Amino acid sequence: MDLALLPPEVAQAHGSFPAALAACADLDGLMRLKGAFVGREGSHAARLMELLKAAPKEEKRDLGAAINTLKNVWEEGLKGRQAELEAARKQAAALGNAWDPDLPAPCPPTGALHPLTRLMDRLVDVFRPLGYHVEEGPEAETEAHNFDGLNIPEDHPARGSADTFYFKEQALLLRTHTSPVQVRVLQRIAAVGPDGLSELERAGGIRFLAPGRVYRKDEIDPTHSPMFHQVEGMLVGKGIGMHHLKGTLAYAMKALFGPGAEVRFRPSYFPFVEPGAEMDVRCPLCGGSGCRVCKGSGWVELLGAGLIHPNVLRLAGIDPEVWSGFAFGMGVERTAMMVSQTPDLRLFFENDQRFLKTMGGLD
Ligand code: FA5
Repeated sequence: MDLALLPPEVAQAHGSFPAALAACADLDGLMRLKGAFVGREGSHAARLMELLKAAPKEEKRDLGAAINTLKNVWEEGLKGRQAELEAARKQAAALGNAWDPDLPAPCPPTGALHPLTRLMDRLVDVFRPLGYHVEEGPEAETEAHNFDGLNIPEDHPARGSADTFYFKEQALLLRTHTSPVQVRVLQRIAAVGPDGLSELERAGGIRFLAPGRVYRKDEIDPTHSPMFHQVEGMLVGKGIGMHHLKGTLAYAMKALFGPGAEVRFRPSYFPFVEPGAEMDVRCPLCGGSGCRVCKGSGWVELLGAGLIHPNVLRLAGIDPEVWSGFAFGMGVERTAMMVSQTPDLRLFFENDQRFLKTMGGLD
């Protein structure tokens, strides 16, 4: 508005209004300021109304509009400051009443394990009674472990830089799955010790889980992330067949999803298993009727699996005529989505405390 239309003392008071408002430290001070600006008598607003009354007819419209704008600014400002001061007074009163020197000091909020960590721990607990222990491998892997040792041929598309994150200098890559831990463990247990026996021969077999982070150049969507978690599982022994794999996984899924869990196996191809399969679980979000998460199919893929390819054993120095086994690689986010009925995997990475705190399905 045009301040030149106002008497100079009113224009000056208007200029200092924001500072005067901020300087009001209590409601009494604010009431005094209110009286001075918009009170019925003697206030700046009352002075302006007199001015309006005395103004020539043709000026009344513009002057009236200007005065209204000004009064609105003052009234809104006073109302806002009043709300702030009242809230502060209430808070101070609450604090004053709540103070009880006999009570123990308030505890700072405690942290908690992330739902994905809790799920991986739970998977380990499911498999532990079956004799599985935990093995680890590095996230920055060599091509030899991530691909070659797994019988993945040179021209496999997953090896291309369009599909995998490579470190230029060190000839390393971010592992694309937890399966390279298979190679590391197989090589270790095949190595012959000073007693002339390998760890594999001494123990008569091995069974382990390898949980961890993996990376792929995948676009993020409700069921994909460029960084996600897998839990690898492997068993090596003698005379191991698909029935052992199916029995083990069916047991684990019932332990995770409850006795009514429905799973299905579909033939699939991975160069490091033969035969290979993928296992789906009946979509718990829609009960199988079809939704966005299961893409209308009623089933959600959780893992890849199969019998260890003889070449993988051979490459690690293990005789496939003597030893056999199975392996599987489970997507942890997908499993978490199903266990907790969460429709979008991105929620696990956004760190929204409201979501993380209500992950009851994963407890
Ligand atoms: C593998 O990674 C194989 N290494 C699994 C395997 C292990 C097969 C041992 C045989 C023997 P696949 O690419 O299908 O397979 O991934 C396994 C699981 O990871 C999928 O079933 C899915 O649950 C999950 N997954 C795959 N890509 C993503 C992604 N971008 N975001 C989240 N989860 C994913």
